[in-house]
Amino acid sequence: MSSRLPLLAAAFALTFMACSPAMSADADPDAIIKYRKGVMDAIGAKTGALVAILKGDVDLKDALAPNAEALAASSNAAVITGAFRQNTDGQGNEQTKATAKIWEDWDRFEKAANDLQAAALDISKTAAAGELTSFDQLKPVLSQCGVCHKDAGFRN
Ligand code: HEC
Repeated sequence: MSSRLPLLAAAFALTFMACSPAMSADADPDAIIKYRKGVMDAIGAKTGALVAILKGDVDLKDALAPNAEALAASSNAAVITGAFRQNTDGQGNEQTKATAKIWEDWDRFEKAANDLQAAALDISKTAAAGELTSFDQLKPVLSQCGVCHKDAGFRN
């Protein structure tokens, strides 16, 4: 193997990057599907942690504020919309539950992401102030999951 190969590859990559438009290029459908499921899994993990604590399944009240802060960070709307911007309907082999409605009704999808971010930031502030004490307080966040997963039909 020629030792110049990595250099050539790097040069090629640089050329390619220089030619790419400012907008991010389409990724391999399987890669973007995997990525966005990871984005959602992070949200799911932090939501699950808050639910477990607030329902008293685990006695870890000290972990409420850090988990809520992590949920707010995971629910960054730019990260969510960025993960779904590429229309993968009917593409790739990676299993996905995302429906075509996301790209047919992108404005609603964006709004749902913004609303989740706002609700998660709110709960994070409440938790930081030591005022997140009941499961009911989490409902504004949980109902935002339902907007995409059920009401809007963005997930099968
Ligand atoms: C803006 C819309 C939207 C919001 C808001 C939203 N989700 Fe999702 N979620 C989706 C879509 C679409 C999928 C399906 C992704 C796929 O399969 O490609 C998904 C998938 C998931 C998954 C499965 C990921 C996997 O590995 O297959 C989990 C877990 C999840 N969401 C948790 C949540 C939780 C918890 C909330 C609320 C705190 C939430 N989501 C809010 C759109 C949303």
